[in-house]
Amino acid sequence: MNKAVIIYWSGTGNTEKMAYEVAEGAKSNTAMEVTVMKVEDASKEDVVNADAVALGCPSMGAEVLEEEEMEPFVEALSDVDWTNKPLGLFGSYDWGDGEWMRDWEARMKEYGAGLVQEGLLVHLEPSEEDNNNCRLLGEKLVK
Ligand SMILES: Cc1cc2nc3c(=O)[nH]c(=O)nc-3n(C[C@H](O)[C@H](O)[C@H](O)COP(=O)(O)O)c2cc1C
Repeated sequence: MNKAVIIYWSGTGNTEKMAYEVAEGAKSNTAMEVTVMKVEDASKEDVVNADAVALGCPSMGAEVLEEEEMEPFVEALSDVDWTNKPLGLFGSYDWGDGEWMRDWEARMKEYGAGLVQEGLLVHLEPSEEDNNNCRLLGEKLVK
């Protein structure tokens, strides 16, 4: 079975809610085994072995990824073979202008990843419309 893995870090649950909506969208492809994991429970192998990957992290610090767990995890993905492994990025933010996501997108492209769409940003807690956009991202990931 093909595998889609959704790996996230979330401090107050907003990005976590997004992760589960992305998973709902990915389940539209019934040939996909869809797994949602907290980054602390995930390993690089989960990415290597997946056919599609979504990564979620809010804007933290000053417009950066969360530094204890997500940052080193993402760093370790630099030498993954991203060929035929579509990637989606998502995360919640508050007062910024999305700089963390623009930087993250550029970084993943440098690693050779193909993004299925622009990183999906949600202001604080996802609204119904945001949830819908998360599900659409999940659908694109498994097309
Ligand atoms: C320590 C800390 C740093 C943050 N830094 C930023 C920031 O640089 N830019 C921004 O837009 N939001 C920032 N935020 C706001 C979070 O991105 C926002 O609260 C988000 O909804 C948290 O998502 P989560 O519930 O998945 O943890 C910060 C929040 C915290 C707690």
